[in-house]
Amino acid sequence: MEQDVDKVLIAEEVIQRRLDAMALDIRQDFPGEVIVVIVLLKGAFVFAADLLRRLPRMLEIECLNVASYHGGMESSGQVDFLDRRLPDVKGRKVLVLDDILDTGRTLRAVADRLTAEGATEVKTGVLLAKDKKRAAEVQADYVGFDIGDEFVIGYGLDYQGRYRNLPYVGTLSPDAQ
Ligand code: XMP
Repeated sequence: MEQDVDKVLIAEEVIQRRLDAMALDIRQDFPGEVIVVIVLLKGAFVFAADLLRRLPRMLEIECLNVASYHGGMESSGQVDFLDRRLPDVKGRKVLVLDDILDTGRTLRAVADRLTAEGATEVKTGVLLAKDKKRAAEVQADYVGFDIGDEFVIGYGLDYQGRYRNLPYVGTLSPDAQ
């Protein structure tokens, strides 16, 4: 275990096994269809890379840069779209992937924006969902794991840009904060 990690919440092999089941669910919901997958950066890049390699090849994969945490441990409450242009989703079925569902503002804002851009269907998938009351009304269609309301790192999730490359999800030790 890494020095700055307080405890491992979800081990690498547990994540990988869960992704097999999530991929099966997604395949069943979109049989033989070409969908646009939108990966929210930066946090979802590890989750998306592992999940999408379990799906059929007929996918169009786009990334969207959104930010609400700005490196710390608290959501700013505002979702910023950092790209000048959004992927073209007019008339398309879309699957949005994010690392974690916390206040719900990010997924709500992204789903609303993609619907306004003409997507015919927007489904959402997250690796983690915090067990708490959401500030924005939203439910992910695919959830890897429900976790408590605590700050987590690893498997794409960061603290001040670090720890994204840990292969597991854990909590940060107080000494590292
Ligand atoms: P909302 O509040 O919009 O949050 O649902 C989604 C985004 O907030 C970030 N986030 C976290 N990042 N550890 C992190 O490293 C956490 O525990 C955490 N909780 C929320 C994340 O970027 C997510 O996309």
